[in-house]
Amino acid sequence: MEQYIIKGGNPLVGEVEIGGAKNAALAILAAAIMTNETVHIENLPDVNDVNVMLEAISGIGAMVQRIDRHTVKINGGTIRDFNIEYDYIKKIRASYYLLGALLGKYRRAEVALPGGCNIGSRPIDQHLKGFRALGADVDIEHGKIVAEAENLRGTHLYFDVVSVGATINVMMAAAMADGLTIMENVAKEPHVVDVANFLNSMGANIRGAGTDVIRIRGVKTLHKSEYSIIPDQIEAGTFMFAAAATKGDVTVMNVIPKHLDATISKLIDMGCEVEEFDDAVRVVSKGRLRSTQVKTLPYPGYPTDMQPQIGVALALAKGTSTITESIFENRFKYLDELARMGAVIKVEGNSATIEGVERFSGARVSAPDLRAGAALCIAGLAADGITIVDDIVYIQRGYERFEEKLRSLGGIIEKVSSEKEIQKFKLKVG
Ligand code: UD1
Repeated sequence: MEQYIIKGGNPLVGEVEIGGAKNAALAILAAAIMTNETVHIENLPDVNDVNVMLEAISGIGAMVQRIDRHTVKINGGTIRDFNIEYDYIKKIRASYYLLGALLGKYRRAEVALPGGCNIGSRPIDQHLKGFRALGADVDIEHGKIVAEAENLRGTHLYFDVVSVGATINVMMAAAMADGLTIMENVAKEPHVVDVANFLNSMGANIRGAGTDVIRIRGVKTLHKSEYSIIPDQIEAGTFMFAAAATKGDVTVMNVIPKHLDATISKLIDMGCEVEEFDDAVRVVSKGRLRSTQVKTLPYPGYPTDMQPQIGVALALAKGTSTITESIFENRFKYLDELARMGAVIKVEGNSATIEGVERFSGARVSAPDLRAGAALCIAGLAADGITIVDDIVYIQRGYERFEEKLRSLGGIIEKVSSEKEIQKFKLKVG
C-alpha cells in the first residue's frame, strides 16, 4: 500500500502547471463515443479515474488510442456492446455518463447501478427522470439500470435538485433526441459548459450551458472533432490553499481565473494576497490567516470539492470559523483525522465550527476520499514534524503527479510503500 510521507514546515513557493479538468474529462470521454468518426482529445489529465473511463469505453468496443500522456483518439464506430459492468461503476461513479451517451446514440444502455460512496449517499433519480422525460423506459434490473427507447423525443424538463451529473447525462441523450429539449434548474459548473462546447464541436446544437436554462435541438448524427479540455479548477484551488496554509507564494499556471472566483474570494477574506493574470493566479500568504465563514453551494458558489482544503487552512487561522456543507452529507470525515494533528473542531450535522490553532503536529492519518486526501497532505506540509498519509489511492484518482508538483514548490513529500522507505525518508530529512 502506497503512502505519502511529508516533512512539514517549508512554505510552498514557485509556479505549478495545472492539468485538464478530471470531471470534464470523464464526461467528454463518454460523449466522445457518440460519433462513429474519430475524436481527438487534448489536455486529458493522466489520473486513475480517467484511465478507468478509457478502459470502460474500450471494454464496450470503442477504439482508444493514447497518443501521449495527455492526448487520446477515440472512435466509437466499433461499439458492439451497450452494457457497462459493475467493476467500472464501482471504481468510478462517472461511468454512468455512458448511460446518456449510449442511450442518445443507440437508444439503449445498461449500466450497473452505482452504490453509495465515501462522501455520502448519491442518488441518481434526476438522471433517470430526465431519460424518462425524453421517452426512454428505464428499469432497475439485477442491480443494473436498463434504459431503452424506440425513439427519444425532445422535452421540457425541470430538475428538482441542481445536479452536475444529471445535467450532463441528460444533455448528452437530448443532443441526439428528436426536436427541442429545454432543461431548467440545471448545474452551471465550468465542466457542464465544457461538455456542451465539446458536443457542439461534434455538431450538436446546445445553447445556454452556464446559465439556468439549457436548450438542446437534437441532431441525427455527430461528427469528428478536435478538442482541448478546460483546466482543473479544483486542482488549481488545492495548490492555492496549499500556498495559504504553508505561508507560501504559489502561482497556478494554465488556469481560467474566472472559474476560481469563489476560491479567490475566500482566500482574500482569509488575508491572502491574490493576483490574477490572463491564465494564471498568484496567491501570497504572509502572517497568520484570518477566520471566515463558508458554505458550499452549486457553481458559482463555493465548491464542495474545495471544502476540505479550506477546512485545513481555517484550522490554522486566527479565530473561530464555520463551514456549512450543503451538497454532500458525509464530507467532514477528514476533520477527525485533522483533529489527530491538533486541530480543534466541533461538527454538528452539516456544519463544523473550527477554532484555529497556531500549528499542527505531524501524525499518521488516512485519506477518507479524494479531495480530503489532498487536504490532509496540505495539513502535513504545514505541520511540525512528519506526517504519513495512508490510502493515497484516493488522491491518485484525481491528482496527476501530486507529490512531484508539491516537491517542485519546495514541499518535502515522498511516495513510499514500505517501513524501510519510511525510515530512509526520516534519515534523509533528519
Ligand atoms: C459532481 C462531481 C463531484 C462534485 C459534485 C458537486 C463529477 C464526476 N463529480 O458529482 O466531484 O463534488 O458534482 O459539485 O463531476 N442529487 C440528487 N439526485 C440526483 C443527482 C444528484 O438528489 O439524481 C444530489 C446529490 O445527492 C447532491 C447534489 O444533488 O446532494 C449534487 O450532486 P451532483 O451535482 O449530481 O454531483 P455529481 O454529479 O455526482
